[in-house]
Amino acid sequence: MSSDEKTVVVTGSGQGIGRATAVELARRGYQVVIADLNADHAASVADEITSTGGSALALAVDISDADSCRAASGELAGKVEKIDGLVNNAALFSTLTMKPFWEIPEDEWNRVLQVNLTGTWRITKELLPLLRGSAAASIVNVAASAVWIGRPNYAHYVASKAGVIGLTYAISRELAGDGIRVNAVTPGSVQTEIPRHTITPAQVQAQVDAQSVRRPAEPSDLVGAVAFLLGPDSGFISGQTLNVDGGLTVR
Ligand SMILES: NC(=O)c1ccc[n+]([C@@H]2O[C@H](COP(=O)([O-])OP(=O)(O)OC[C@H]3O[C@@H](n4cnc5c(N)ncnc54)[C@H](O)[C@@H]3O)[C@@H](O)[C@H]2O)c1
Repeated sequence: MSSDEKTVVVTGSGQGIGRATAVELARRGYQVVIADLNADHAASVADEITSTGGSALALAVDISDADSCRAASGELAGKVEKIDGLVNNAALFSTLTMKPFWEIPEDEWNRVLQVNLTGTWRITKELLPLLRGSAAASIVNVAASAVWIGRPNYAHYVASKAGVIGLTYAISRELAGDGIRVNAVTPGSVQTEIPRHTITPAQVQAQVDAQSVRRPAEPSDLVGAVAFLLGPDSGFISGQTLNVDGGLTVR
Protein backbone atom coordinates (compact mmCIF):
# COMPACT_ATOMS: atom_id res chain seq x y z
CA MET A 1 0.00 0.00 0.00
CA SER A 2 1.45 3.40 -0.94
CA SER A 3 1.52 6.15 1.69
CA ASP A 4 -1.06 8.25 -0.15
CA GLU A 5 -3.50 5.35 -0.68
CA LYS A 6 -6.76 5.96 1.12
CA THR A 7 -8.43 3.14 3.04
CA VAL A 8 -12.18 2.89 3.41
CA VAL A 9 -14.19 0.36 5.41
CA VAL A 10 -17.52 -0.62 3.87
CA THR A 11 -19.70 -2.60 6.26
CA GLY A 12 -22.14 -5.11 4.80
CA SER A 13 -20.13 -5.23 1.57
CA GLY A 14 -20.41 -8.98 1.13
CA GLN A 15 -23.37 -8.45 -1.19
CA GLY A 16 -25.84 -5.95 -2.62
CA ILE A 17 -25.29 -2.20 -2.44
CA GLY A 18 -22.27 -2.60 -0.15
CA ARG A 19 -20.55 -4.95 -2.57
CA ALA A 20 -21.17 -2.64 -5.53
CA THR A 21 -19.92 0.32 -3.50
CA ALA A 22 -16.75 -1.52 -2.45
CA VAL A 23 -15.97 -2.67 -5.99
CA GLU A 24 -16.38 0.85 -7.40
CA LEU A 25 -14.40 2.51 -4.59
CA ALA A 26 -11.57 0.05 -5.29
CA ARG A 27 -11.78 0.93 -8.97
CA ARG A 28 -11.41 4.58 -7.95
CA GLY A 29 -8.18 3.77 -6.11
CA TYR A 30 -9.22 3.17 -2.52
CA GLN A 31 -7.97 0.24 -0.51
CA VAL A 32 -11.30 -1.22 0.58
CA VAL A 33 -12.00 -3.22 3.72
CA ILE A 34 -14.84 -5.65 3.03
CA ALA A 35 -16.46 -5.90 6.47
CA ASP A 36 -19.36 -8.32 6.73
CA LEU A 37 -21.06 -10.78 9.02
CA ASN A 38 -20.73 -13.36 6.26
CA ALA A 39 -16.99 -14.07 6.20
CA ASP A 40 -17.21 -16.15 3.01
CA HIS A 41 -18.95 -13.34 1.14
CA ALA A 42 -16.41 -10.82 2.44
CA ALA A 43 -13.51 -13.01 1.30
CA SER A 44 -15.10 -13.54 -2.10
CA VAL A 45 -15.64 -9.80 -2.71
CA ALA A 46 -12.08 -9.05 -1.56
CA ASP A 47 -10.81 -11.73 -3.99
CA GLU A 48 -12.93 -10.25 -6.76
CA ILE A 49 -11.29 -6.84 -6.18
CA THR A 50 -7.71 -8.06 -5.82
CA SER A 51 -7.99 -10.36 -8.84
CA THR A 52 -8.76 -7.32 -10.99
CA GLY A 53 -5.81 -5.33 -9.65
CA GLY A 54 -7.56 -3.51 -6.81
CA SER A 55 -6.63 -3.43 -3.15
CA ALA A 56 -8.93 -5.06 -0.60
CA LEU A 57 -8.98 -6.78 2.78
CA ALA A 58 -11.74 -9.02 4.12
CA LEU A 59 -12.86 -8.43 7.69
CA ALA A 60 -15.43 -10.64 9.42
CA VAL A 61 -17.53 -8.63 11.85
CA ASP A 62 -20.94 -8.73 13.49
CA ILE A 63 -21.83 -5.09 14.11
CA SER A 64 -24.54 -6.20 16.55
CA ASP A 65 -21.91 -7.71 18.85
CA ALA A 66 -19.60 -5.53 20.94
CA ASP A 67 -16.84 -8.15 21.26
CA SER A 68 -16.87 -8.80 17.53
CA CYS A 69 -16.58 -5.07 16.76
CA ARG A 70 -13.68 -4.68 19.20
CA ALA A 71 -11.92 -7.72 17.74
CA ALA A 72 -12.43 -6.52 14.16
CA SER A 73 -11.09 -3.07 15.02
CA GLY A 74 -8.06 -4.65 16.67
CA GLU A 75 -7.47 -6.94 13.69
CA LEU A 76 -7.68 -4.01 11.30
CA ALA A 77 -5.34 -1.89 13.44
CA GLY A 78 -2.76 -4.65 12.94
CA LYS A 79 -3.02 -4.21 9.16
CA VAL A 80 -3.53 -0.49 8.49
CA GLU A 81 -2.30 2.63 10.32
CA LYS A 82 -5.46 4.63 9.72
CA ILE A 83 -8.71 4.61 7.82
CA ASP A 84 -9.90 7.56 5.77
CA GLY A 85 -13.48 6.53 5.31
CA LEU A 86 -16.24 4.43 6.82
CA VAL A 87 -19.40 3.53 4.92
CA ASN A 88 -21.93 2.23 7.44
CA ASN A 89 -23.99 0.14 5.03
CA ALA A 90 -24.59 -3.11 6.96
CA ALA A 91 -28.20 -3.59 7.96
CA LEU A 92 -30.99 -6.07 8.20
CA PHE A 93 -32.97 -5.30 5.09
CA SER A 94 -33.32 -7.85 2.29
CA THR A 95 -34.32 -10.58 4.74
CA LEU A 96 -37.18 -8.56 6.27
CA THR A 97 -40.76 -9.29 5.33
CA MET A 98 -43.39 -6.57 5.22
CA LYS A 99 -46.00 -6.57 7.98
CA PRO A 100 -48.06 -4.00 9.89
CA PHE A 101 -46.27 -2.61 12.93
CA TRP A 102 -48.64 -4.31 15.34
CA GLU A 103 -47.64 -7.70 13.97
CA ILE A 104 -43.88 -7.24 14.27
CA PRO A 105 -42.64 -9.72 16.88
CA GLU A 106 -40.75 -8.04 19.73
CA ASP A 107 -37.56 -9.99 19.05
CA GLU A 108 -37.61 -8.97 15.36
CA TRP A 109 -38.12 -5.31 16.34
CA ASN A 110 -35.21 -5.48 18.77
CA ARG A 111 -32.92 -7.26 16.31
CA VAL A 112 -33.52 -4.67 13.56
CA LEU A 113 -32.74 -1.80 15.94
CA GLN A 114 -29.77 -3.72 17.35
CA VAL A 115 -28.15 -4.22 13.94
CA ASN A 116 -29.22 -1.16 11.96
CA LEU A 117 -28.96 1.56 14.58
CA THR A 118 -26.98 0.30 17.56
CA GLY A 119 -24.61 -1.60 15.26
CA THR A 120 -23.88 1.56 13.28
CA TRP A 121 -23.09 3.43 16.50
CA ARG A 122 -21.00 0.54 17.83
CA ILE A 123 -18.76 -0.09 14.82
CA THR A 124 -18.26 3.66 14.36
CA LYS A 125 -17.01 4.13 17.91
CA GLU A 126 -14.75 1.09 17.69
CA LEU A 127 -13.16 2.36 14.47
CA LEU A 128 -12.78 5.90 15.76
CA PRO A 129 -9.08 5.59 16.72
CA LEU A 130 -8.30 4.53 13.14
CA LEU A 131 -10.48 7.31 11.68
CA ARG A 132 -8.72 9.85 13.91
CA GLY A 133 -5.44 8.76 12.33
CA SER A 134 -6.54 10.23 8.99
CA ALA A 135 -6.06 13.89 8.14
CA ALA A 136 -9.56 14.17 6.67
CA ALA A 137 -11.76 11.18 7.44
CA SER A 138 -15.35 10.93 6.28
CA ILE A 139 -18.18 8.73 7.50
CA VAL A 140 -21.14 7.96 5.24
CA ASN A 141 -24.16 6.33 6.85
CA VAL A 142 -26.58 4.51 4.58
CA ALA A 143 -30.09 5.39 5.75
CA ALA A 144 -33.19 5.13 3.50
CA SER A 145 -35.67 7.41 1.78
CA ALA A 146 -38.30 5.15 3.36
CA VAL A 147 -37.93 7.58 6.29
CA TRP A 148 -39.04 10.57 4.18
CA ILE A 149 -42.11 8.77 2.82
CA GLY A 150 -43.00 7.00 6.08
CA ARG A 151 -42.97 3.75 4.17
CA PRO A 152 -45.63 1.43 5.59
CA ASN A 153 -45.12 -2.16 6.75
CA TYR A 154 -41.44 -1.80 7.67
CA ALA A 155 -41.88 0.23 10.88
CA HIS A 156 -38.84 -1.23 12.65
CA TYR A 157 -36.67 -0.69 9.58
CA VAL A 158 -37.93 2.87 9.00
CA ALA A 159 -37.49 3.72 12.69
CA SER A 160 -33.95 2.29 12.65
CA LYS A 161 -33.01 4.39 9.61
CA ALA A 162 -34.56 7.53 11.12
CA GLY A 163 -32.31 6.78 14.09
CA VAL A 164 -29.30 6.52 11.77
CA ILE A 165 -30.10 10.00 10.42
CA GLY A 166 -30.30 11.39 13.97
CA LEU A 167 -27.03 9.65 14.84
CA THR A 168 -25.46 11.21 11.75
CA TYR A 169 -26.48 14.71 12.82
CA ALA A 170 -25.36 14.27 16.44
CA ILE A 171 -21.97 12.71 15.80
CA SER A 172 -21.17 15.16 12.99
CA ARG A 173 -21.09 17.77 15.78
CA GLU A 174 -19.12 15.56 18.17
CA LEU A 175 -16.44 14.73 15.59
CA ALA A 176 -16.00 18.31 14.39
CA GLY A 177 -12.91 18.71 16.56
CA ASP A 178 -11.36 15.67 14.90
CA GLY A 179 -11.92 17.02 11.40
CA ILE A 180 -14.11 13.99 10.65
CA ARG A 181 -17.15 14.71 8.49
CA VAL A 182 -20.32 12.64 8.90
CA ASN A 183 -23.13 12.49 6.35
CA ALA A 184 -25.90 10.12 5.29
CA VAL A 185 -27.39 8.96 2.01
CA THR A 186 -31.04 8.01 1.70
CA PRO A 187 -31.55 5.56 -1.17
CA GLY A 188 -34.96 4.71 -2.51
CA SER A 189 -35.75 1.12 -3.48
CA VAL A 190 -32.70 -0.42 -5.18
CA GLN A 191 -32.69 -3.63 -7.20
CA THR A 192 -29.66 -5.70 -6.24
CA GLU A 193 -28.61 -9.25 -7.14
CA ILE A 194 -30.51 -10.44 -4.05
CA PRO A 195 -34.13 -11.40 -4.84
CA ARG A 196 -36.75 -9.81 -2.58
CA HIS A 197 -39.84 -11.93 -2.54
CA THR A 198 -41.99 -9.51 -0.55
CA ILE A 199 -41.94 -6.83 -3.27
CA THR A 200 -44.10 -7.64 -6.27
CA PRO A 201 -43.22 -6.47 -9.80
CA ALA A 202 -46.35 -4.28 -9.64
CA GLN A 203 -45.03 -2.54 -6.49
CA VAL A 204 -41.65 -1.95 -8.16
CA GLN A 205 -43.42 -0.44 -11.19
CA ALA A 206 -45.62 1.76 -8.98
CA GLN A 207 -42.53 3.17 -7.31
CA VAL A 208 -40.82 3.81 -10.65
CA ASP A 209 -43.95 5.65 -11.83
CA ALA A 210 -43.78 7.85 -8.72
CA GLN A 211 -40.14 8.79 -9.34
CA SER A 212 -38.95 11.71 -11.49
CA VAL A 213 -36.26 9.40 -12.89
CA ARG A 214 -38.48 6.73 -14.43
CA ARG A 215 -36.39 3.59 -14.05
CA PRO A 216 -35.55 1.23 -11.21
CA ALA A 217 -32.45 2.16 -9.20
CA GLU A 218 -29.37 -0.03 -9.42
CA PRO A 219 -26.61 -0.22 -6.81
CA SER A 220 -24.36 1.79 -9.14
CA ASP A 221 -26.79 4.72 -8.76
CA LEU A 222 -25.69 5.03 -5.13
CA VAL A 223 -21.97 4.75 -5.52
CA GLY A 224 -21.30 8.21 -6.95
CA ALA A 225 -23.10 9.86 -4.04
CA VAL A 226 -21.16 7.79 -1.51
CA ALA A 227 -17.85 8.49 -3.26
CA PHE A 228 -18.65 12.21 -3.35
CA LEU A 229 -19.35 12.30 0.39
CA LEU A 230 -16.18 10.32 1.13
CA GLY A 231 -13.88 12.50 -0.93
CA PRO A 232 -12.51 16.05 -1.00
CA ASP A 233 -15.22 17.44 -3.31
CA SER A 234 -17.59 17.35 -0.31
CA GLY A 235 -14.99 18.77 2.08
CA PHE A 236 -17.31 21.55 3.29
CA ILE A 237 -20.31 19.26 3.82
CA SER A 238 -21.07 17.59 7.14
CA GLY A 239 -24.19 16.65 9.06
CA GLN A 240 -26.30 16.34 5.89
CA THR A 241 -28.42 13.73 4.17
CA LEU A 242 -28.11 13.29 0.42
CA ASN A 243 -31.31 11.83 -0.97
CA VAL A 244 -30.74 9.39 -3.85
CA ASP A 245 -34.20 8.13 -4.74
CA GLY A 246 -34.72 9.23 -8.33
CA GLY A 247 -36.94 12.06 -7.15
CA LEU A 248 -39.42 9.81 -5.36
CA THR A 249 -39.40 12.47 -2.66
CA VAL A 250 -38.65 16.14 -3.19
CA ARG A 251 -37.54 18.23 -0.21
N1 LIG B 1 -31.85 -2.28 -1.50
C1 LIG B 1 -32.69 -1.29 -1.22
O1 LIG B 1 -33.78 -1.14 -1.81
C2 LIG B 1 -32.32 -0.27 -0.16
C3 LIG B 1 -33.06 0.91 -0.08
C4 LIG B 1 -32.72 1.87 0.88
C5 LIG B 1 -31.66 1.62 1.75
N2 LIG B 1 -30.98 0.46 1.65
C6 LIG B 1 -29.89 0.25 2.59
O2 LIG B 1 -28.70 -0.03 1.87
C7 LIG B 1 -27.89 -0.94 2.62
C8 LIG B 1 -27.59 -2.18 1.79
O3 LIG B 1 -28.80 -2.72 1.32
P1 LIG B 1 -28.82 -4.09 0.51
O4 LIG B 1 -30.07 -4.11 -0.28
O5 LIG B 1 -27.50 -4.29 -0.17
O6 LIG B 1 -28.97 -5.11 1.75
P2 LIG B 1 -28.64 -6.67 1.88
O7 LIG B 1 -29.56 -7.19 2.91
O8 LIG B 1 -28.62 -7.32 0.54
O9 LIG B 1 -27.13 -6.71 2.42
C9 LIG B 1 -26.85 -6.39 3.75
C10 LIG B 1 -25.43 -6.83 4.05
O10 LIG B 1 -25.19 -6.51 5.44
C11 LIG B 1 -24.61 -7.65 6.06
N3 LIG B 1 -24.98 -7.66 7.47
C12 LIG B 1 -26.23 -7.91 7.99
N4 LIG B 1 -26.17 -7.92 9.32
C13 LIG B 1 -24.87 -7.67 9.67
C14 LIG B 1 -24.19 -7.57 10.91
N5 LIG B 1 -24.82 -7.77 12.07
N6 LIG B 1 -22.86 -7.29 10.89
C15 LIG B 1 -22.21 -7.12 9.72
N7 LIG B 1 -22.81 -7.22 8.50
C16 LIG B 1 -24.13 -7.50 8.48
C17 LIG B 1 -25.18 -8.84 5.33
O11 LIG B 1 -24.37 -10.00 5.52
C18 LIG B 1 -25.19 -8.33 3.90
O12 LIG B 1 -23.96 -8.58 3.25
C19 LIG B 1 -28.68 -1.24 3.90
O13 LIG B 1 -28.28 -0.33 4.91
C20 LIG B 1 -30.10 -0.96 3.49
O14 LIG B 1 -30.92 -0.65 4.59
C21 LIG B 1 -31.28 -0.50 0.72
